[in-house]
Amino acid sequence: MISKVLFLTAVGLSSLHSAKSQSTPSICDNSTLLIDSRRVLTTAQECTTVAGDIVIQYASDYPATMEFPNLESVDGSFLSINFDEDIRVTRLSAPKLTTVRADVYISRWVNLTTINMPVLTTINRVRLNNLPSLTSANFLSTLETIENNYEVTNTSLKEIKNDKLPFAVFVEIFDNKELEKLELTALTNASYNVALRRNKPGVEVSLPALKEVFFFEFQRISSLEIPELERAIGHFVVNDSTVETLEAPKLRDVGIWYDPSSSITNNRGLLIQNSGNLKSLSFPALEAVQLDLVIRNNSELEDISFPMLKRVTGNVGLEGTFESVRFPELDRVGGVFSLGNDEAGFNCADLQGFKNNGTIRGAFSCPQYQELPTRSGTKADSKKEIEDWLNWSSSGTGFESFRSTNAFVFAIFASTAIWFV
Ligand SMILES: *[C@@H]1O[C@H](CO)[C@@H](O)[C@H](O)[C@H]1NC(C)=O
Ligand SMILES: *[C@@H]1O[C@H](CO)[C@@H](O)[C@H](O)[C@H]1NC(C)=O
Ligand SMILES: *[C@@H]1O[C@H](CO)[C@@H](O)[C@H](O)[C@H]1NC(C)=O
Ligand SMILES: *[C@@H]1O[C@H](CO)[C@@H](O)[C@H](O)[C@H]1NC(C)=O
Ligand SMILES: *[C@@H]1O[C@H](CO)[C@@H](O)[C@H](O)[C@H]1NC(C)=O
Ligand SMILES: *[C@@H]1O[C@H](CO)[C@@H](O)[C@H](O)[C@H]1NC(C)=O
Ligand SMILES: *[C@@H]1O[C@H](CO)[C@@H](O)[C@H](O)[C@H]1NC(C)=O
Ligand SMILES: *[C@@H]1O[C@H](CO)[C@@H](O)[C@H](O)[C@H]1NC(C)=O
Repeated sequence: MISKVLFLTAVGLSSLHSAKSQSTPSICDNSTLLIDSRRVLTTAQECTTVAGDIVIQYASDYPATMEFPNLESVDGSFLSINFDEDIRVTRLSAPKLTTVRADVYISRWVNLTTINMPVLTTINRVRLNNLPSLTSANFLSTLETIENNYEVTNTSLKEIKNDKLPFAVFVEIFDNKELEKLELTALTNASYNVALRRNKPGVEVSLPALKEVFFFEFQRISSLEIPELERAIGHFVVNDSTVETLEAPKLRDVGIWYDPSSSITNNRGLLIQNSGNLKSLSFPALEAVQLDLVIRNNSELEDISFPMLKRVTGNVGLEGTFESVRFPELDRVGGVFSLGNDEAGFNCADLQGFKNNGTIRGAFSCPQYQELPTRSGTKADSKKEIEDWLNWSSSGTGFESFRSTNAFVFAIFASTAIWFV
């Protein structure tokens, strides 16, 4: 019996060998392998490696399952975009594919339910876009290295999970009408953003290893796990969500005040709004918010406390039914401080003290909410704003804390100065 199995295996292997030693079709070496008919597809299915890009265009005669049974690596991209007619294939499969050097970009296959690429580990970026029937894409979980984007837009995936990817530039998860969970458990750094928009309301988000992100933006989420997050360089936004608690135990720094390489067109620093179930906020390590700190329209939120917050370079805007608002370490607010409170008898006097002793530079309003001023966004204005801030924050009270708390601003200021010469 055993010898029979061995014999069969040996036959299998040798036939595989002979298949491999047969010459592969020359189109596998094309700089662009353009698949636009069933005939070309049949030839392309023989390729083991493709030297250039695979580009799949519409054809009326594709089979329901499009399979690349031998394909192991693609030196260019695997693309299917920009065609007039929707491709009707329901299943795309490349069971041996491990590497795509450039992009995997699949768009507008309206009937596609399954992408089966179970051993794909390495690509530059993935963009799945307008695949409203897609319910399974196993490679999203098997990816180990990505140099750029992880984008999933307009699919029917219920879960997006990956426990191997340590880094991505963009993580954008938009318009997924069935999405319930996003779990990227190995991700430590997203150098441009992690953003969720317009997905099914109530997505549970788990990013247990994330330390640093540039723009952080969450809409329609029901929970957020970020135990290791230390820095959101651009902004931190939670909006239109059903979260009951928001905890960021290690977050120290939010928001960039001014960076000449990215034009800042809004005031967003730390923004938490339109989340009617939110009952508690915990930001025990937060020391600095560049631009604005805004907490508005979270009807259940009664207590606001930022125990370590020293400075806000922009404005502070708080609106709601608060019982207590505490900033025990607050040292500098560069703009206005506006607090609108519907709770009768709220005592504004303690906060007024920050205005009286010069901690707040701009106007102070409480208990009436005054809309916050918006910034112009031009580089020259931003430069002036930084100079103003430096002049103001180095004068008067709190010079002791000036050096340490403003080190970051100085670093940006130095690069700004170089930019403007
Ligand atoms: C492969 O490249 C040749 C030469 O450029 C071109 O004529 C042919 O159409 C290409 N085939 C495919 C399938 O892209
Ligand atoms: C493919 O999708 C179109 C548009 O959603 C739909 O009309 C058609 O019935 C679908 N075909 C199959 C085979 O599912
Ligand atoms: C999703 O993709 C389908 C197919 O291209 C398109 O008809 C639909 O408008 C898209 N939905 C969104 C929200 O972009
Ligand atoms: C995150 O990635 C960016 C871009 O590669 C890099 O500059 C930055 O140092 C990384 N941050 C951390 C904390 O690893
Ligand atoms: C907040 O969510 C609302 C509704 O979904 C949207 O219109 C608005 O643009 C969002 N604002 C921000 C700052 O994300
Ligand atoms: C306030 O938040 C609720 C969700 O809790 C939302 O339905 C409502 O539109 C928001 N109000 C404003 C003025 O944005
Ligand atoms: C300014 O006033 C606030 C509120 O009364 C107080 O907590 C803070 O310690 C004062 N700061 C300085 C530098 O006097
Ligand atoms: C900041 O202060 C310095 C020294 O007092 C002064 O020369 C400069 O004009 C000031 N800049 C602004 C923007 O006020």
